[in-house]
Amino acid sequence: MKTKLFITGSSGFIGFHVAKRYLDKGCKVCGFDSMNSYYDVKLKKSRLKILKKYKNFSFTKGNLENQKILNNSINKFKPSIIIHLAAQAGVRYSIENPKVYLNSNILGTFHVIESAKKFKVKHLIIGSSSSVYGANKKFPFQEIDKTDSQISFYAATKKSIESLAHSYSSLWKMPITILRFFTVYGPWGRPDMAYFKFTKNILNGKKIDVYNKGKMYRDYTYIDDIVDGIFRLTNKIPKLNSSKKYKNDSLSHVAPIRILNIGNTKKVLLSNFINTIEKIVGKKANKKFLPMQKGDVYSTLSDTKLLSRITGYNPKTKYQDGIMKFLNWYLDYYN
Ligand SMILES: NC(=O)c1ccc[n+]([C@@H]2O[C@H](COP(=O)([O-])OP(=O)(O)OC[C@H]3O[C@@H](n4cnc5c(N)ncnc54)[C@H](O)[C@@H]3O)[C@@H](O)[C@H]2O)c1
Repeated sequence: MKTKLFITGSSGFIGFHVAKRYLDKGCKVCGFDSMNSYYDVKLKKSRLKILKKYKNFSFTKGNLENQKILNNSINKFKPSIIIHLAAQAGVRYSIENPKVYLNSNILGTFHVIESAKKFKVKHLIIGSSSSVYGANKKFPFQEIDKTDSQISFYAATKKSIESLAHSYSSLWKMPITILRFFTVYGPWGRPDMAYFKFTKNILNGKKIDVYNKGKMYRDYTYIDDIVDGIFRLTNKIPKLNSSKKYKNDSLSHVAPIRILNIGNTKKVLLSNFINTIEKIVGKKANKKFLPMQKGDVYSTLSDTKLLSRITGYNPKTKYQDGIMKFLNWYLDYYN
């Protein structure tokens, strides 16, 4: 029988691409999403419309906070794997609206973990974030580094769900993989993210907000590389004591849980990133310089050796090529 995957956040940027990849491989997918209006719902509907063309796809519209809807949907579908990508994303919005994050990310994830336990899923994969490394100054970030210094509420909710997952994995021996994503970008991307706003505003001749004079580094990871990493992980189910096999697989002595960075392993200066968008779009940006934003970190950089050792993960997309692909999609989608 083909693998059955329950994917939360399936109308979101990453969830959509991940669901599509499994459907293209002939797997059965049940998506779950609230279709909330944090950003343009039309974009979420367009993604969902594509997924609905697959006969192996089913969908439940619901909030993770509603445990009953979630349980009913999982009970009906009976997945062997859950990939949990629904969340209230975005560092900046979390400063003004922390409660939304508390509900969606912490309570919502708690319900997903409970369901995974109740329905005995074989592997629960949970989306976390590079932001859990917070103000750390040791680069690249490694999974075994301390993560006690989150500087945004969003990051704090992600760190919290990592702890919740660890406790459940330890108590109930639930196989869980936590993925720390590093700035994911690409076609069908999120309109609240900087690269999306830069492209849109440069094309429309509007000002772009540049924080800290563009002196910030990000490890930009192209969506296809992320999807490839997740796909390779599907059947790499964490086991107790796998640290003997994989260096830095630090948690497995007490619980079948694994934390993995998933990034591009290269840091790019924000101002160089903007220059590249200008070149590709063929227009100069009108820049508005602003001080460093609250909650933002100066730099991110992933070490993904552990993921590579386990799966052969090898991110291939240079950011210049990734931006080009994003622009082509953007022009096509928005005419
Ligand atoms: N895109 C990135 O650069 C990035 C970086 C780090 C971590 N992440 C994490 O990856 C995951 C996916 O992010 P994305 O970029 O695809 O974001 P996204 O906002 O595009 O997708 C999230 C989806 O979840 C849904 N959702 C939100 N709250 C919900 C709730 N309470 N109940 C049901 N559905 C809900 C939204 O409607 C949305 O479609 C998230 O956990 C995010 O925190 C993303």
